Amino acid sequence: MKVIVTGASRGIGKGLASYLAKDGFSVGLIARSAEALGDACASIRDQGGTAFGAACDLRDAEMTAAAIQELSAELGGVDALINNAGIVLRKSVWDISLDEWRALVDTNLSGLFYATRAVLPLFKAQGHGHLINLSSISGKVPLPGGSAYAATKFAVTGFSQSLVSEVRDFGIKVTAIFPGSVDSGSQRHDPAADHSWKLTPEDIASTCAHVLRAAPGTLISEVEIRPLRRPPSA
Ligand SMILES: NC(=O)c1ccc[n+]([C@@H]2O[C@H](COP(=O)([O-])OP(=O)(O)OC[C@H]3O[C@@H](n4cnc5c(N)ncnc54)[C@H](OP(=O)(O)O)[C@@H]3O)[C@@H](O)[C@H]2O)c1
Repeated sequence: MKVIVTGASRGIGKGLASYLAKDGFSVGLIARSAEALGDACASIRDQGGTAFGAACDLRDAEMTAAAIQELSAELGGVDALINNAGIVLRKSVWDISLDEWRALVDTNLSGLFYATRAVLPLFKAQGHGHLINLSSISGKVPLPGGSAYAATKFAVTGFSQSLVSEVRDFGIKVTAIFPGSVDSGSQRHDPAADHSWKLTPEDIASTCAHVLRAAPGTLISEVEIRPLRRPPSA
């Protein structure tokens, strides 16, 4: 199966691409950082996997469409797109700047929409395809102190839940994933803090692999995944 993963230069996306490649999937990686993408692809190939990278800013619709086409040509088709790229920013309405707000909306919502629009014609033409959208628990329940981030994730939830009905008759599946806290490395503002209780990128990846392998006639529309352990302060 050929899978494109956005936001694959670090964090959850990098772990996703690496895990899926080891599990036998061919992977296409998207992110802005060409150097980090090159390193991620080289590491996957060193371990015997198949990986291609396309440096792309998902806030640009045309660039995004070109990157999806490029990866589709290199992979020999696309069976699934994992919309993982996103900015995680926990700032209240009092603290967030307008530039940070725009970056959140342009990346977490518009970027996901552009990538989806770019891949859907390929899925429709082949009569199958699978979109996996990374929402968040914060796309289901309020996140005090992170209202702007939560707004983008609630939008991803609403888009995913509505999209299911728009594409299922073309054989296209949509799955929204709702992770709790993941130790992706990016949110380690306090290096001394204990992150061992959190989910790992591999936990998200194994969930995605399971969802991608579900029987053709089944649709897993939503998966909520939380760490079993609570934060040390809870
Ligand atoms: N970490 C958590 O606890 C958690 C929990 C629930 C849900 N999530 C969701 O999981 C996803 C990944 O989170 P993460 O913690 O792994 O974040 P991360 O470590 O900051 O990684 C974000 C990825 O997105 C890419 N990216 C950002 N802006 C981009 C753009 N304009 N164009 C292309 N790529 C872009 C980054 O690459 P470049 O900078 O190279 O472009 C990077 O590869 C996000 O959607 C987040 O909302 C995370």
